[in-house]
Amino acid sequence: MICLGIESTAHTFGVGIVNDKGQILANEKDAYTTKSGGLIPNKLAEHHVECCDAVWKNALRKAKLSMKDIDVVSYSASPGLGHALRIGAMFARSIAKIYKKPLVGCNHCIAHLEIGRMISRAKDPVLLYVSGVNTQVIAYESGKYRIFGETLDQGIGNFLDSFARHIGLGFPGGPKIAELAKKGKNYIELPYTVKGMDVSFGGLLTNVKQKYDSGKYKVEDICFSIQETVFAMLTEVSERALAHCNKDELVLGGGVACNTRLQEMVKIMCSERKAKCYIPENRLLVDNAAMIAWLGLIMFKAGNSVKPKEAGINPYERTDDVRVNWR
Ligand code: ATP
Ligand code: FE2
Repeated sequence: MICLGIESTAHTFGVGIVNDKGQILANEKDAYTTKSGGLIPNKLAEHHVECCDAVWKNALRKAKLSMKDIDVVSYSASPGLGHALRIGAMFARSIAKIYKKPLVGCNHCIAHLEIGRMISRAKDPVLLYVSGVNTQVIAYESGKYRIFGETLDQGIGNFLDSFARHIGLGFPGGPKIAELAKKGKNYIELPYTVKGMDVSFGGLLTNVKQKYDSGKYKVEDICFSIQETVFAMLTEVSERALAHCNKDELVLGGGVACNTRLQEMVKIMCSERKAKCYIPENRLLVDNAAMIAWLGLIMFKAGNSVKPKEAGINPYERTDDVRVNWR
């Protein structure tokens, strides 16, 4: 069985193709970017409309397949920006209808977890999902993926990007802060906010902006201290979730998981408690359509599908709103 999946929750419009052996036959994308890093919803929608046809054709070409070889079409139905989700859903409905293919709507956060689980062959992991908007610690319990911990305000990536913008680094800020952090040597004590399994970055953002503006600290030391602080917070809540859920596998997902210092910290934590740590390659950590294709495929095999007429979007759906009947 082969599934063609469409990702369209935010910046990225992607088309991925996977088969039921878990082989990724194509994973094409085009991302909307601006110099300032801001995002204008209707411009984003225009971007997705303009590139969707080319991305879809590229994916089929890469996979050396045509639509007659595709058994199922899936799309990211939730959560995300309405303007972006709507274009992906419309595109999915159109090709499902024209080529008479069954259609499956997917939750983007769960797709991050499922691609990590497939790639790593982890059986029942905790997922640390750290992207621009999302910061969640997710695990399976009693028929749903439950959010055991999450950010109480902004996502970790948005926090990094906001600080980067404040100091004139441009977008995306995470990799640029990571470069500066490598040159930092002195740890500056910063607010560390962990509440149970939840984290918060708002107060920290104000604090580091003030420290930078005061001119008393080297920017490399601030970046180093930011990374040490926020990644320790994420490692702590991941460890608490592993202990609380009695699980011994951790999978990473989301763009911020590309950070090698975060990877190093969670690996140390996992080895100390004899848990396995799985980190997919970067192209599967960031937003991608192969993960939507894979989730669509396993959902379809479990009997899930939606009629094109009813294939809508749900920008605010939470991970634990979805009933999991495929495992
Ligand atoms: P989602 O829709 O799932 O929230 P997203 O649109 O934020 O995803 P991702 O590609 O998952 O997209 O993540 C982008 C974020 O990852 C940005 O905030 C960026 O700064 C951050 N990022 C990318 N690489 C690194 C890195 N090496 N270190 C830290 N942060 C990084
Ligand atoms: Fe994502």
